[in-house]
Amino acid sequence: MKNLPVIVGITGASGALYAHTLIKELVKRDIPVEIVTSKWGKYLLNHELNFNFGKNPQKFIEEQYGKNVKWTDLTWHPGMDMSATIASGTYRTRGMVVVPMSMGTLGHISNGVTSNLLHRAADVTLKEKRPLILVPRETPLSQIHLDNLLKVSRAGATIVDANPTFYQGAETIQDLIDSVVARILDSLNIDNKLVPEWGIPKEFQDA
Ligand SMILES: Cc1cc2nc3c(=O)[nH]c(=O)nc-3n(C[C@H](O)[C@H](O)[C@H](O)COP(=O)(O)O)c2cc1C
Repeated sequence: MKNLPVIVGITGASGALYAHTLIKELVKRDIPVEIVTSKWGKYLLNHELNFNFGKNPQKFIEEQYGKNVKWTDLTWHPGMDMSATIASGTYRTRGMVVVPMSMGTLGHISNGVTSNLLHRAADVTLKEKRPLILVPRETPLSQIHLDNLLKVSRAGATIVDANPTFYQGAETIQDLIDSVVARILDSLNIDNKLVPEWGIPKEFQDA
């Protein structure tokens, strides 16, 4: 069977490190990745991670993630290219993750308004009933945001909000990021050991 790709959509919400970590975890497992960035997603990658896509973003992405791996299949799609493979349901994928997801993109996806390739790919993922994992980042949330989250959840999306856990003994920012990326991978049914499986410590079992 074809090794189906995961689409990773990156929007202009804070938390580019979530997307960066997820892509590295997928590449490690030889899973092809189709990356689509919104204009503000690219901005945040630059602002938070110092990414400089330059004149050849495809080459930049290959250098960023393809180095030191035996096999890679990495594609970067410009956010406005509606003729891209991932704009069509005929192009089979394992699903899509929008990480981090801005409230602007949430508004588009929850209303079926496809103004860029990222919205369209999410719309296609939903209509084809493939896993759509949304990782919203905003606080506090307005009633509009909450309504939109409920709407996409009812339409079949999984909401994994950018909400790290601390109980696993997190010591670094990366540990916190990993705790969210682990849940994204879980939602895609991809085995990972980023965070140890929870079990109540013995001394508390009878308490
Ligand atoms: C530095 C910076 C941080 C931002 N962080 C967030 C955020 O965490 N959540 C959010 O919903 N919007 C955030 N925004 C606003 C979005 O980038 C803006 O609404 C944009 O239009 C989203 O477009 P996109 O969804 O197509 O990427 C941020 C903007 C900037 C410049």
